[in-house]
Amino acid sequence: SLPVENVQALASNSKEIPSRYIRPELDDEQVLADGSLHIPVIDMSKLQDDDEDELAEFHLACKESGFLQLINHGVPEKAIEKMKTDIEEFFKLPLEEKMACAQLPNSIEGYGQAFVVSKDQKLDWGDMLFLLTQPANIRTTSLWPTIPTSLATIEEYSLELQKVTIFLLKLMAKNLGIEPGKLASLFEDGIQGIRMNYYPPYAQANRVIGLTPHSDSVALTLLVQVNQVQGLQVKKYGKWVPVKPIPGAFIINIGDIIEIMSNGEYKSIEHRAVVNPEKERLSVAAFDSPNMNTTIGPLPNSVEDRAIYKNITHEEFIKLFVASKLDGKNLLSHVKLEP
Ligand code: SIN
Ligand code: FE2
Repeated sequence: SLPVENVQALASNSKEIPSRYIRPELDDEQVLADGSLHIPVIDMSKLQDDDEDELAEFHLACKESGFLQLINHGVPEKAIEKMKTDIEEFFKLPLEEKMACAQLPNSIEGYGQAFVVSKDQKLDWGDMLFLLTQPANIRTTSLWPTIPTSLATIEEYSLELQKVTIFLLKLMAKNLGIEPGKLASLFEDGIQGIRMNYYPPYAQANRVIGLTPHSDSVALTLLVQVNQVQGLQVKKYGKWVPVKPIPGAFIINIGDIIEIMSNGEYKSIEHRAVVNPEKERLSVAAFDSPNMNTTIGPLPNSVEDRAIYKNITHEEFIKLFVASKLDGKNLLSHVKLEP
């Protein structure tokens, strides 16, 4: 990434913001009213009790919505609350102290902005701290904040969420007719990254964008909104629809890898984050992917007629992910087979 200004610092001075943040294209976009999109609510305790109706609801949510809110997930509230307060504390630190976690050259890990490659590129109105969390041997612990006690907090949060992911993957496999052990085994030593997002307020909020529209190039994302400020929007029928988080729930979405592995049966949906005119917004997303030895391609039994995606190595997939960020195309279009 090219070094760019810290957005939190930029927002705190009263000068006019650089034009690189202003998005004229937002003027003619349609945003639906709050609450108009029903994101399916899935009760994990019912899934644990082998409730067949809930399992069917879960399948439908993955197929038709690509997003769901998971309640009764069993992750201790304390682990989530600690993560939230630590994140709030981190972003409150003076800039110099946050810069101890600054991104290293040519990496998206650390504190900064992702995928800034040209001087003309439009920029997002937000800062992020992205850390690789699992497996433990891929961590760059020098970038992990030590204030307050974030190491232990992130570790606990990371492991708890990975457990939820594995549980859900087994049920997805069941719903898709894939051998459950097969899908879950790909996530032994699975890769996980956690991204903490900070979006400062901006008075003309509908002229900037917090996080550019994208789909997640991972298997599964578990998102928590840290404070009470909404901002996540999901694309549905060509319009942006705000998501209203249920307190205590995880907002979960299918990523590109599960779309590929399910041969398109489950959908990786485009989404973005918008900014609030008065209040800062914070969120935390955990991204889970299979281990590095995994071939990314449609899994046996998910292919009834023919594969619509090709098989590639995980390494090749990551290269395509970076390439897709640079050329602005959807990653899935790079792996789609010709009809
Ligand atoms: C995302 O990670 O794509 C959205 C994050 C957010 O809601 O802030
Ligand atoms: Fe995302």
